[in-house]
Amino acid sequence: MKTRAAFIRQAPGEYEVGEVELEEPRQNELLIKMSAAGLCHSDDHVATGDIPAGVYPMIGGHEGAGVVAGVGPNTPGFADGDKIVFSFLPSCGRCRWCASGMQNLCDLGAGLLSGGRPDDPTSFRNSMDGKPVGQMCGLGTFADYTIVSVDNAVKVDDDVPLDKAVLTGCGVGTGWGSAVNSAQVYPGDTVIVMGVGGIGINAVQGAAHAGASNIIAVDPVAFKREKAMELGATHTAETIQEGR
Ligand SMILES: NC(=O)c1ccc[n+]([C@@H]2O[C@H](COP(=O)([O-])OP(=O)(O)OC[C@H]3O[C@@H](n4cnc5c(N)ncnc54)[C@H](O)[C@@H]3O)[C@@H](O)[C@H]2O)c1
Ligand SMILES: [Zn+2]
Ligand SMILES: [Zn+2]
Repeated sequence: MKTRAAFIRQAPGEYEVGEVELEEPRQNELLIKMSAAGLCHSDDHVATGDIPAGVYPMIGGHEGAGVVAGVGPNTPGFADGDKIVFSFLPSCGRCRWCASGMQNLCDLGAGLLSGGRPDDPTSFRNSMDGKPVGQMCGLGTFADYTIVSVDNAVKVDDDVPLDKAVLTGCGVGTGWGSAVNSAQVYPGDTVIVMGVGGIGINAVQGAAHAGASNIIAVDPVAFKREKAMELGATHTAETIQEGR
């Protein structure tokens, strides 16, 4: 089949919308009709070349949610109509890291930027003029349809709104986790969040949840600072110098 997608032909470059060929899903893969995709700054890094892609063209987008429209052969646990939120980090559930509760370090993450399948960076499901087209993080969520590995697919209940749940695919996990897990914020702590965009605003919420007493959100954009105050910040500053 064909699908519409936004891709980068070269870096630095700009996203271009066009038609790409899409194969059938293979074993342990799902065809997904996209419902929602988030725009993360990492997608812009792919366009500028700050994050190099393994192959060009590369379909952008790694935060996404949609509905199963096709299931590969011998792929139990999924059916047409299932609602799915993607995890941009794959998790196989079997490697040493997955088995010890550290799915963020799953061996499959090694091929994240290859643009190919998580388990085979030389294998692609999209093509244009007979040449392979990559999918960012094996997902390529800037498309009407995409094929993903079940290792990136999290099934959610039917009543979960996908336009909200999509944000857990990158921004919420990264931001919240940076405050709660990486920084290990404790009650009473003072936290500075530099930049309260998609990631930072979730770090603000994570820090508030962890009980920080002072949460200082630094961002040059007034709107971002206003939102930060609504979502848990106690103070804001336009620049780090102003906060001193
Ligand atoms: N897992 C990961 O490692 C991971 C996941 C997602 C995003 N990222 C990275 O995190 C970064 C942020 O991503 P995002 O999607 O939140 O971006 P964003 O563009 O939504 O937010 C960036 C924010 O920084 C602010 N900013 C710019 N200059 C500033 C300055 N000098 N001082 C303070 N604030 C400033 C901007 O106004 C904006 O609000 C990007 O580099 C992205 O690639 C990493
Ligand atoms: Zn991201
Ligand atoms: Zn694993």
